[in-house]
Amino acid sequence: MLWLIISMISSILLVLIYCDIRKPKNFPPGPFWFPLIGSTIQVWRARSRSKSLYEGTAEMSKQFGPVLGLKVGRNPIVIVYGPEAYKEFSTSIVLIGRPDDFYYKLRTWGRRLGIILTDEEFWQEQKRFLLKHLRQFGFGTKNMSHLVETEISCLIDSIDKAIMSEGYTIYDMERFFSVSILNTLWKMMSGKRYSNDDKNMKELQQILSDLFKTVHMVGAPFSYYPILKYIAPGISGYKCFINTHINIWKFLRNEIDYHKKHLDTAQEPTNLIDAYLHVLKVADDGSSYSEDQLVAICMDMFMAGSETTNNTLSFCFLYLILNPDIQEKAQEEIDRVVGSRMINLDDRSRMPYAESIVLEALRMFSGRAFAVPHRALKATKLAGYSIPKDTIITANLHGCMMGPDSGFEEPEKFIPERFLSNGEVHIPDNFYPFGLGKRKCMGESLAKANIFLFTTSLLQKYNFHLLQESPPDMEIVDGVTPAPVHYKAKITRR
Ligand code: HEM
Repeated sequence: MLWLIISMISSILLVLIYCDIRKPKNFPPGPFWFPLIGSTIQVWRARSRSKSLYEGTAEMSKQFGPVLGLKVGRNPIVIVYGPEAYKEFSTSIVLIGRPDDFYYKLRTWGRRLGIILTDEEFWQEQKRFLLKHLRQFGFGTKNMSHLVETEISCLIDSIDKAIMSEGYTIYDMERFFSVSILNTLWKMMSGKRYSNDDKNMKELQQILSDLFKTVHMVGAPFSYYPILKYIAPGISGYKCFINTHINIWKFLRNEIDYHKKHLDTAQEPTNLIDAYLHVLKVADDGSSYSEDQLVAICMDMFMAGSETTNNTLSFCFLYLILNPDIQEKAQEEIDRVVGSRMINLDDRSRMPYAESIVLEALRMFSGRAFAVPHRALKATKLAGYSIPKDTIITANLHGCMMGPDSGFEEPEKFIPERFLSNGEVHIPDNFYPFGLGKRKCMGESLAKANIFLFTTSLLQKYNFHLLQESPPDMEIVDGVTPAPVHYKAKITRR
């Protein structure tokens, strides 16, 4: 009898193990899946060998091909690498869902809210609202230029003050742009801007910095093994994730309450929160509009728009201080086209060299990043492989913009000229810093405006120098979005 029970339990265990390590038929190739942990160990090893997840998975793609089939924890994940696979993936109308497991819903009270992590009709309706109103309050209008110019004037004032006594100043470039970038976003969302030392700005910066440390788009230990949130809430990152979110929820709800108190529905709204509150007043019960959704949209704007722009500018100035000849060329163009007046977005079309610096900085940033994960809405094919319904798919954008098939020569070098042809801006194939297809970035115009205006306006007034005593380390910090290792620059007036 005992033998019978033992052999039955063993058989059940064997079947469970078999089901766990068995790959779906014609699934993209990749390393072996171990029971319970899938290919977590192989991914972790590849990441430690190459020091970053993007290089680690690029190595694995060399071995297994441009569509890599992994399983991290219990979840099958496909990573595409290289231009051909990327184009097919991002333009598929089936692979446009977003992950919907508990990790991604935890930030929005267990529900699917916001823009970045929702899909189907809900996402479409909210995206339409957001695009319409962002256009109204910023994107693609003269407003956007003024919004960014105000921030630049404030930054220039603070640099001028710092330079005054010694004739130069040394800045820590990691957070150099962060207040200004946050203000451009916050002004559109709430109609407010904060000064550098405002207590609300300090609080917002701290919350967002914590948020970027705790949120990983590809998941966290407790998302792969949910049991960890009960047995090891601290080590698994769960506790920190929740506490940080409590802070951002509170910050945003306070702001929304303030707007509710002062809302005048007879007046045209001048910011996103007011516009949303106007719609909420008349929305039907069954609609996708809600106050929680407004909090989620604001979180998404910060998540998507602040660190990405900030880190692209950090890469940009890192390469500018390493290449003084590029600074000089840009300054020659600025002096010739604009002179000493304030630069605005209308000047962009007459400044191809400056624009090529922006595009090259975007390549340096996005070429080390992953796209936001997608989800297969139903079973489909990708590059001839079968992708079961609900599989999570992301793209290692290194393959398009820095990899061996990218078409970019010497991809690790900062060469703005690769975006110029006969003195005009020319966008080469495989340059997709903002993604492609229906899930393409919604903030492209604001991001480009910020990077162009900050770069040119600062180069118009200052030279940025290498600090001989602490030359920058060329390693990359592998976070939610890539960043250069913390570096400093010496700034002098031209
Ligand atoms: C240098 C700056 C930026 C870069 C490189 C960037 C890049 C991207 C990429 C690659 C995606 C994902 C595409 C995909 O899933 O396939 C994305 C999505 C998104 N981005 Fe950006 N982004 C930047 C700045 C911004 C800004 C400033 C905003 C808003 C103010 C923004 C809003 C969004 C939103 C809302 C999505 C999600 C779209 C959706 O799921 O439908 N981004 N971005």
